[in-house]
Amino acid sequence: MPTAICPGSFDPVTYGHIDIIERTARHFENVVVAVIRNPQKAQALFGLEERQELLHEVTAHLPNVSIRFFKGLLVDFARDCGAEVIVKGLRAISDFDYELQMAQMNQRLSGVDTFFVSTSPQHSFLSSSLVKEVARFGGDVSSMVPPAVAKRLETRYGPEGANP
Ligand code: PNS
Repeated sequence: MPTAICPGSFDPVTYGHIDIIERTARHFENVVVAVIRNPQKAQALFGLEERQELLHEVTAHLPNVSIRFFKGLLVDFARDCGAEVIVKGLRAISDFDYELQMAQMNQRLSGVDTFFVSTSPQHSFLSSSLVKEVARFGGDVSSMVPPAVAKRLETRYGPEGANP
């Protein structure tokens, strides 16, 4: 199987994302981590370059993984990359409705298939939003994100989570 896309906001990348990327990289020749340029979620905490830098750092051990930005429809980007499959992690049933809807829309739009990978149980509660909230109030996120990400969060919010 040649190329798969792992899309997301990655604001910031967590161990949950890395788990999905690593497992996808075992099954596909190439994996494109596709970072959306204009996430629908409220203002991103990290800029594009910062998110890309962190992703580069945490996927450096995976030679078949590349990081790219995209805007517009994911299916158009997938076609540009020559990707046949989109890979998404599923954490819980609460992810399922929306993910299924997107998968079916993407299938209708371009025929691209979405493969779902079940998140490893130790990461199933993780989300970038929650990690940011914990870090913002000075909580310990060291088991949830790689050290480089934890450091950036600390720089952003302060060691005691001082800055709102
Ligand atoms: O990490 P996220 O924020 O859950 O990722 C969501 C993402 C970027 C995968 C999704 O919003 C997306 O694919 N956006 C691109 C726009 C698009 O193609 N919309 C139609 C989806 S059916």
